[in-house]
Amino acid sequence: MKKNSLNKQNNNKMWGGRFTTSLSELMEEFNSSIKFDQILYVEDIEGSLAHSEMLSRQNIISKKEYLSIKSGLEQIKKEISNNEFNFSTKLEDIHMNIENRLVEIIGEPGKKLHTARSRNDQVATDIKLWLRKKIDQIELSLKNLQRTLIEKSEIYYDLLMPGYTHLQVGQPVTFGHHLLAYVEMLGRDRGRLLDCRKRMSELPLGSAALAGTSYPIDRYFVADKLGFSKPTENSMDAVSDRDFAIEFMSASSLIAIHLSRLAEELVLWSSDRFDFVRLPEKFTTGSSIMPQKRNPDAAELIRAKPGRIFGNLIGLMTVLKGLPMTYGKDMQEDKEPVFDTAKHIELCLLNMDGIIKEIEPIPTKMMEALQKGYPTATDLADYLVKNLNIPFREAHHLTGRIVLLAETKLSSLEDLALEDIQSVVPNADLKILEVLKVQNSVSSRTSYGGTAPKNVLKAIKHAKKRFLKG
Ligand code: ARG
Repeated sequence: MKKNSLNKQNNNKMWGGRFTTSLSELMEEFNSSIKFDQILYVEDIEGSLAHSEMLSRQNIISKKEYLSIKSGLEQIKKEISNNEFNFSTKLEDIHMNIENRLVEIIGEPGKKLHTARSRNDQVATDIKLWLRKKIDQIELSLKNLQRTLIEKSEIYYDLLMPGYTHLQVGQPVTFGHHLLAYVEMLGRDRGRLLDCRKRMSELPLGSAALAGTSYPIDRYFVADKLGFSKPTENSMDAVSDRDFAIEFMSASSLIAIHLSRLAEELVLWSSDRFDFVRLPEKFTTGSSIMPQKRNPDAAELIRAKPGRIFGNLIGLMTVLKGLPMTYGKDMQEDKEPVFDTAKHIELCLLNMDGIIKEIEPIPTKMMEALQKGYPTATDLADYLVKNLNIPFREAHHLTGRIVLLAETKLSSLEDLALEDIQSVVPNADLKILEVLKVQNSVSSRTSYGGTAPKNVLKAIKHAKKRFLKG
């Protein structure tokens, strides 16, 4: 049973005094945000508790009134979380739904809650409070995914696979090294989120509608109470600013880009042509018609999510561009994209983590692909430079001829005979054959940040220290 009655919520609403006719039903539906902003109820109540406590400390309302407001708000919080609250579109948004119910429950003192504030500073505060929590959650999920990737790279620090450029076999790398590339991307993503969270630490509440207020409020007290570092500096900026939402969505867009690149690799690697990995069955689906299929649906969805995540960012940027100071109803369009982005980024991270935890590489297939791709051609050219004093450009050309030879003989570089090589480079000796082995190629990449297995082990240690501590 819903606790609050809707009978009293006739059309005169909060500003009934000035209006003679009621809203068109069409407009009422169009105008209201309650369907999507109700998820802000915890933050809205948190803000109202801090605001009313401050009002009482400043003697703007009495202590008794504050205590009554407090108990009313706590009851409302319970009603909403127990799904006993009747949300009304007539009351437009979460702020007025809660305020109206407060008056229903406690009577006169409830009407004082809105003293010295406006929904304009209230909504900006609510979204910041909500987003800060989401950012913490998403940042933690990024860290968890980093941990999973690091654990996998520890197992496969020396597993050989082709490294690609242009999706053509380039040079051999290790699977561990490849996975650690994503650990770096996610590390930057965490940094961007934390950076935007820092700029979310100024409290808008107390800016009132746009110009500040004539009541003797204490904004520092409210800021402190709500975990903000300080009040915003300019009341007009405070109620019209949504930079924080855009920053969050743009940081999320980069996360989505990174995840979609990994997702695309998973789709490729699990395809018949590559066959480099087996994806965990629980993150794939079958086909209703083709019995042999195991489709990488989770990875494909992650690959697709940038569509909505970029869309949300571009959508809100477009709403805000050219808006005159200060609040415009346009700004109500900020919420759905922000909520949607937070939800889907989190889902992508959790699903990706689930996949990576149980991904199984298929070493023989990785090696097969390596053998086909002449991945040690660069090593051969480097050998000619270092040992036979041939200038690199020329060495590159000679190596090209050796690759062509291997191609006509349907051989890998590694399996060529010394005589074959000598037909192109007459003074080549047996040592050259060592250079052509993929294992040796990988072990030789010892420059800082390179793929040599012993480097990868060091990189793992370093990554743990940089990303997993604390
Ligand atoms: N529902 C509104 C929004 O989300 C709250 C702020 C309304 N302020 C106003 N002056 N109409 O933006």
